[in-house]
Amino acid sequence: MRDLPARGYLASNVDSVDEMFCRWCIIFLMVGLVVLTNQGCTQNRFESIKLHTYDPSLKINLDSKTINACLVCHTAKEMQRGPVLDGFPDWYLKNQLKKFQLGYRGKNPNNRAEYLMGGAIKNIKTDVELEVLADYFSKQTPKPSIRVIRGNIEFGKILYAARCASCHGSEGKGNRQINSPPLNIQEDWFLMDQLSKYISGQRGLHPEDTDGIIMKNSTIDLSLNDMRNIVAYISNNLTVLPLLQKVGPSKN
Ligand code: HEC
Ligand code: HEC
Repeated sequence: MRDLPARGYLASNVDSVDEMFCRWCIIFLMVGLVVLTNQGCTQNRFESIKLHTYDPSLKINLDSKTINACLVCHTAKEMQRGPVLDGFPDWYLKNQLKKFQLGYRGKNPNNRAEYLMGGAIKNIKTDVELEVLADYFSKQTPKPSIRVIRGNIEFGKILYAARCASCHGSEGKGNRQINSPPLNIQEDWFLMDQLSKYISGQRGLHPEDTDGIIMKNSTIDLSLNDMRNIVAYISNNLTVLPLLQKVGPSKN
């Protein structure tokens, strides 16, 4: 099986010593790999919520009734509504849905929009249903959206680089390792709305919501204008949403 030149001039027991050595090498390599893999997982200190992994190959079908129940509030058709979720990454949707289930979000009646979702989460009965819904919305193409936030894009660009890019990426693609979502798929009003909620202590307030607290702390000292400028920069320069003509006051 092995073709060793050593055979000819080394003592016959070299073969088995050699073999032993190889076996030890393999054992060390495997132990090393296991240790490395484990470290990789435990080092992710942002991973506070445990989710089991849904296997998309199971192809569990969602009935349209379940999806439509979400779409009552998650399409652009309604005035009083949540964000359009199409194209959000599945891991982020799962994390947020879990936060609603655990009561980290959606329990404060003063935060009316979030409170609505706090009620809707009760319709998701099992973890598999939660994961299938996340999977479904993540596979939809982001929809065109109307820009409503005006701001100074140049100022926004500078602030984004200094205050946001380290976690959300210079192109706004997010970073799964630290649970920071992409910012290039949300509608601009929703980005603005959520930033205001972090800064006013309506989001990122539950002591176990580690990611929310990290994000809340990242908004310290931002003024309303700073936020508008950042959002205007994101929605003009980073977004992947197809553009819809901005609805604004007539120029005449
Ligand atoms: C009664 C209206 C309503 C229904 C029904 C509803 N939602 Fe929501 N949802 C909202 C609102 C409003 C928000 C935004 C909350 C906020 O402002 O903080 C939201 C937020 C979310 C978020 C967090 C988005 C983010 O980026 O923070 C997810 C995920 C979500 N909903 C998923 C779902 C799913 C899946 C369903 C169907 C099972 C559903 N929602 C049904 C109103 C609703
Ligand atoms: C230290 C890392 C960090 C920095 C810096 C940071 N973020 Fe975040 N951001 C996060 C994390 C983590 C989350 C998820 C929080 C949660 O689950 O509530 C988040 C969530 C958000 C959300 C909610 C998105 C949604 O769909 O619900 C917005 C909006 C946001 N960040 C914008 C910004 C902006 C704008 C800046 C710069 C001013 C910024 N972030 C700086 C880590 C960061």
